[in-house]
Amino acid sequence: MMAKVITVTSGKGGVGKSTTTANVSTALALRGKKVIAVDFDIGLRNLDMILGLENRIVYDVVDVMEGRCNLAQAIIKDKRTNNLHFIPASQTKDKTVLDKEKVEKLINELKKDFDYIIIDSPAGIESGFEHSIYLADMALVVTTPEISAVRDADRVIGIIDAKSKKAQNGEEVEKKIIINRIKPELVEKGEMLSTEDVLHILALELIGIVPDDEEIVRSTNIGEPIVLSDKSLVGEAFRRIARRIEGEDIEFLDLKSKKGIFSKLKGLFK
Ligand SMILES: Nc1ncnc2c1ncn2[C@@H]1O[C@H](COP(=O)(O)OP(=O)(O)OP(=O)(O)O)[C@@H](O)[C@H]1O
Ligand SMILES: [Mg+2]
Repeated sequence: MMAKVITVTSGKGGVGKSTTTANVSTALALRGKKVIAVDFDIGLRNLDMILGLENRIVYDVVDVMEGRCNLAQAIIKDKRTNNLHFIPASQTKDKTVLDKEKVEKLINELKKDFDYIIIDSPAGIESGFEHSIYLADMALVVTTPEISAVRDADRVIGIIDAKSKKAQNGEEVEKKIIINRIKPELVEKGEMLSTEDVLHILALELIGIVPDDEEIVRSTNIGEPIVLSDKSLVGEAFRRIARRIEGEDIEFLDLKSKKGIFSKLKGLFK
């Protein structure tokens, strides 16, 4: 299999990029693919916590690029999930430490060893963001169902089309939308943008819809990606994204009717 570089990005901050990176990476690893998640959110590392690997950090992505360690030294192998690997972001305040040539050298090295290289990008559209999308084969554009987030996602899509290496070579980066934190009851009342509304604005292919679920907060706090727990609906949402990345054509979660059945049941027991 040819290595695939997938960048998880957004326009607006705090919409769920790191959560998505952790869960999609874990889900692909659970499918037997050799995966490395790389945190490009320099200065604000938190993918390590979501993955529960913060205690194992010695070197970071900037150390590798600056030659302070070799690549093998910076790669953390998850002991819980086979096939899952991780390179943390550095905590330096200087966000301009990444440089195009060094990023390219690192990614090309990783491509020799991994099936998927999944890059968690920083919020905003500064240099850190540009480095994280530069070598992407695929971009997962995360948005929440809010006008401001959708509008910012639209801007980011334009930048990917202008600044990625693929785009500059006349090729196209595959761009897919993930709508995160959907609250079906609000959508049904017309108080939240629906999936159709979001897709109408962004005109890109959907790859996942993820419900809003407090379990995410819990799983982040205990450092255990939610896809590791079989029962949850959000876990299933991320597993389906992984399957679609692998080319499967599967249905989207039916968030509405699930809720419908649930409320009906609750009604019965009143
Ligand atoms: N589906 C969800 N349901 C409930 N909470 C969620 C969901 N997705 C993300 N969150 C919460 O939203 C917050 C932001 O998520 P996350 O850190 O993944 O976003 P981000 O886009 O990486 O943020 P940043 O731009 O700061 O890097 C976290 O507290 C996370 O637990
Ligand atoms: Mg993040």
